[in-house]
Amino acid sequence: MTEIRYDGRVAIVTGAGMGIGRMYALELAHRGAKVIVNDLGGARDGSGADQSAADKVVEEIRAAGGDATANYDSVATMEGGQHIVQTALDAYGKLDILINNAGILRDRSFLKMSEEEWDQVIAVHLKGAFCVTQPAVKKMKENNYGRIVFTSSASGLYGNFGQCNYGAAKLGLVGIMNTLKLEVAKYDIKVNTIAPTAWSRMTADLFPPEYEQKLNPQFNEPMVLFLCSEDVPVTGMTFAMGAGWYGRTAVVSGNGVCLGDASRPVAVEEIRDNFDQIVSLDETKPHDNGGSIFTYMAPLLS
Ligand code: NAI
Repeated sequence: MTEIRYDGRVAIVTGAGMGIGRMYALELAHRGAKVIVNDLGGARDGSGADQSAADKVVEEIRAAGGDATANYDSVATMEGGQHIVQTALDAYGKLDILINNAGILRDRSFLKMSEEEWDQVIAVHLKGAFCVTQPAVKKMKENNYGRIVFTSSASGLYGNFGQCNYGAAKLGLVGIMNTLKLEVAKYDIKVNTIAPTAWSRMTADLFPPEYEQKLNPQFNEPMVLFLCSEDVPVTGMTFAMGAGWYGRTAVVSGNGVCLGDASRPVAVEEIRDNFDQIVSLDETKPHDNGGSIFTYMAPLLS
């Protein structure tokens, strides 16, 4: 088995002070990458700040013979994002890999959710990914190389009670990826998204206690490292995982049905009478870009 290495590569991992992000930072460094360990060191709800979170991981990496530099900025501002990227450039002169992983939770059922709870979660997960990824892509483009991973969640992809803010942000990341993958494809910048599952402080009171050992955050690391490797064969894809299971997930369309002739109006009764075909996901396919939806309408448009 040929070993996958990251020698000469410079990586940023946001929110790498604990949980899943720490695993990425440790293994990237172990396999030769120089790593920026970003972490604000706040509480699960985003409050507070503690530089020791990032410092400890940097110490761990250095003690094992690796190379890492700490950064304590919040991902949630443009200044923070720029400074995180600048830290990589100042320390190591370039940037090859960005893993957008930082996150917080402010759970509340939809009707009880405050504007502040909404804004803070969107700011860290969705805006935060923009704030760090935009300056990162500027640098990657100059070098004609980049590997970017966004961190979504089953909560955003499929739904979870009490997490409409988090779910919106997490599915929004898939939206960023869908566009960004097209805009950077010619620069050998590959952009993929993962939906991890892990026992961490974020999920310790959400998952059954007996899952603690089996949902080790480590199990997410090899998939993400593969997506950050030179030879990763895909871009614009989403992968879910946990406990050693890995699988692709995607927004797909069914074949549907063409009604009318694109000139006469279609009646609501025709929707009712053809609903079995409209709702069917028996034959589905994912799409590389929004324009491909026209393929279904082709018989009507020709
Ligand atoms: P965690 O709470 O252990 O780690 C998140 C890290 O992000 C913390 O170290 C925190 O200090 C840091 N952080 C928070 N706000 C920040 C900011 N503004 N700037 C910089 N750093 C900040 O959580 P965990 O479980 O490791 O989650 C990692 C990612 O995976 C998050 O994006 C989370 O939403 C996502 N995720 C986790 C799942 C799980 O099962 N644990 C499930 C689905 C998604």
